[in-house]
Amino acid sequence: MHCSALTRALWLAWVVSAQPPPPSANATVPAPGPTGTSPAPAPVPTEPPSNGSASLEVFTISANNITASFIPYGARLTSLLVPDRSGQQQDIVVGFDDPAQYVANAASNNAYIGPVVGRYANRIKNSTFVLDGVTYHIPSNEFNKTQTVHGGVVGYDQRNWIVTDYTTNSITFALFDRGFENFPGDVINLATYTVNSSWSANNSDFQTQLTTRTVSIALTARTPIMLANHIYWNLNAFKEPNILNNTYLQLPLSSRYIPTDSHLIPTGQIGDVKTALNGTLDFTSPKLVGQDIRSASVCGNNCTGYDTCFIIDRPSNRSDWTSSPETMIQALNMTSTTTGISMVVHTNQKAVQIYSCNTQNGTLPVKPSQVQRNNQQNAGNMTHPVDTVQQYGCLVIEPEGWIDGINNPQWGQLPYQVFGPASAPAVNWATYVFGTV
Ligand SMILES: *[C@@H]1O[C@H](CO)[C@@H](O)[C@H](O)[C@H]1NC(C)=O
Ligand SMILES: *[C@@H]1O[C@H](CO)[C@@H](O)[C@H](O)[C@H]1NC(C)=O
Ligand SMILES: *[C@@H]1O[C@H](CO)[C@@H](O)[C@H](O)[C@H]1NC(C)=O
Ligand SMILES: *[C@@H]1O[C@H](CO)[C@@H](O)[C@H](O)[C@H]1NC(C)=O
Ligand SMILES: *[C@@H]1O[C@H](CO)[C@@H](O)[C@H](O)[C@H]1NC(C)=O
Ligand SMILES: *[C@@H]1O[C@H](CO)[C@@H](O)[C@H](O)[C@H]1NC(C)=O
Ligand SMILES: *[C@@H]1O[C@H](CO)[C@@H](O)[C@H](O)[C@H]1NC(C)=O
Ligand SMILES: *[C@@H]1O[C@H](CO)[C@@H](O)[C@H](O)[C@H]1NC(C)=O
Ligand SMILES: *[C@@H]1O[C@H](CO)[C@@H](O)[C@H](O)[C@H]1NC(C)=O
Ligand SMILES: *[C@@H]1O[C@H](CO)[C@@H](O)[C@H](O)[C@H]1NC(C)=O
Ligand SMILES: *[C@@H]1O[C@H](CO)[C@@H](O)[C@H](O)[C@H]1NC(C)=O
Ligand SMILES: *[C@@H]1O[C@H](CO)[C@@H](O)[C@H](O)[C@H]1NC(C)=O
Repeated sequence: MHCSALTRALWLAWVVSAQPPPPSANATVPAPGPTGTSPAPAPVPTEPPSNGSASLEVFTISANNITASFIPYGARLTSLLVPDRSGQQQDIVVGFDDPAQYVANAASNNAYIGPVVGRYANRIKNSTFVLDGVTYHIPSNEFNKTQTVHGGVVGYDQRNWIVTDYTTNSITFALFDRGFENFPGDVINLATYTVNSSWSANNSDFQTQLTTRTVSIALTARTPIMLANHIYWNLNAFKEPNILNNTYLQLPLSSRYIPTDSHLIPTGQIGDVKTALNGTLDFTSPKLVGQDIRSASVCGNNCTGYDTCFIIDRPSNRSDWTSSPETMIQALNMTSTTTGISMVVHTNQKAVQIYSCNTQNGTLPVKPSQVQRNNQQNAGNMTHPVDTVQQYGCLVIEPEGWIDGINNPQWGQLPYQVFGPASAPAVNWATYVFGTV
């Protein structure tokens, strides 16, 4: 980690911890009971999501051939423009042109479109975990309130992060989590996005890059921490109704995955992509997303598609919960034959959750700004433009830890998912390198 980032984080930690604690702060850490198990405390009323106009202000950063926009509500990526093979700019992420729509989406049927999710991404079985002999219960928000997804009822995605740094090509958001959603202790979080590009008049063989990095410091107690970016990608730029037949995906290091039950909770086993479901989950070589998707019954009951935690196995098996650059590794490659846009993802994380937009059904709109681009670029084509997000019309990529590793200690993931005042910060670092093929 860069010293300046750490200094800034520590300064922020000092500033926020110097404030008097809010009234609910002491209710969020259950005291150990005599048996080492706390009585289940009543869930603390969560703070309402912040939806003030300041949290919906749009911040834009850019470098040659790449422009990204964000809002503080969820430290959220709202658009990402890169050139296609003909040099025309395309917006390749799902979102809304009108930032107020993110608040409405979170309130109705939260699809977690573009934010940082936390304090603990993905699912927590029975909304319960045991840490140092103490059982913690956190609010349930999924499958009829039988489990927790993406940090609880009001996760980091619905929080009003503060912009602490903003330059032409970088933005940093900060969030002070005072024991939100009954997680133990306070955590200070920074989320930085940077774009850069090597394109110049002398170097048209451009490499264009988005870097995402979160840094989380547990201030007062040991706690699970697993932040993740939750971006919906569509490298076709919505020029096709879905991504099945024109988007190749490769997960070169993912020979193993985590099997889940009908509610997407891990069974505790580790699966082999070569043998499970006749290789349906095998993306170790580039494969069309749609090639085997009809046999991908890995997204819960009565669902067809991918919603799966793929393990990233590094050849060196280096540990990687700090920001050491050596732990960054190429874990994903995706290309669109429609636009020619390619994206290669490097990450320091130990897994990647892939969701193939199985439950999208045309309710979410494609941004009018991108529909307009497609209409202009498609002059004379009388085909009805793709103006809603259809089933399999996108792919969510979440570089993060093993799903529910805190409830599966047999996997040995606790050192990468539990942090405290005496540990290094939790760092989720990824680069998304764009090009064309
Ligand atoms: C926090 O603790 C103080 C002192 O023990 C107590 O008066 C207050 O009611 C507690 N607040 C909550 C929300 O439990
Ligand atoms: C903002 O949240 C408040 C409640 O916290 C709600 O009454 C209001 O309608 C919300 N505004 C928008 C624009 O969603
Ligand atoms: C990159 O941007 C420059 C202008 O900054 C433009 O001339 C060039 O064509 C772009 N490259 C591609 C591949 O679009
Ligand atoms: C699930 O959580 C509830 C409290 O929320 C607890 O009473 C129950 O024992 C837990 N079940 C399992 C199987 O852990
Ligand atoms: C949801 O849970 C409630 C209370 O436990 C139960 O009455 C209801 O049948 C459940 N609904 C479904 C769809 O499982
Ligand atoms: C972008 O920034 C990253 C991090 O500083 C650096 O590793 C990379 O080489 C840069 N890429 C380009 C194309 O300048
Ligand atoms: C017309 O546009 C549709 C949707 O954008 C696309 O699928 C189709 O290939 C295009 N047809 C031609 C002839 O360009
Ligand atoms: C996928 O694309 C190939 C070649 O472009 C075509 O032959 C095939 O019919 C397409 N399949 C579907 C389901 O659209
Ligand atoms: C795997 O393929 C074989 C032969 O095509 C088929 O009989 C079997 O049902 C398939 N198994 C699964 C789990 O799809
Ligand atoms: C399964 O999904 C299909 C299509 O989405 C729906 O028509 C059917 O009712 C569902 N079945 C059950 C048992 O939920
Ligand atoms: C990514 O995959 C495509 C095929 O889908 C391939 O052409 C390209 O070379 C790959 N890039 C990297 C960096 O692996
Ligand atoms: C489509 O998805 C939305 C949002 O998830 C949901 O509210 C709606 O019921 C779905 N519609 C159908 C017909 O399944």
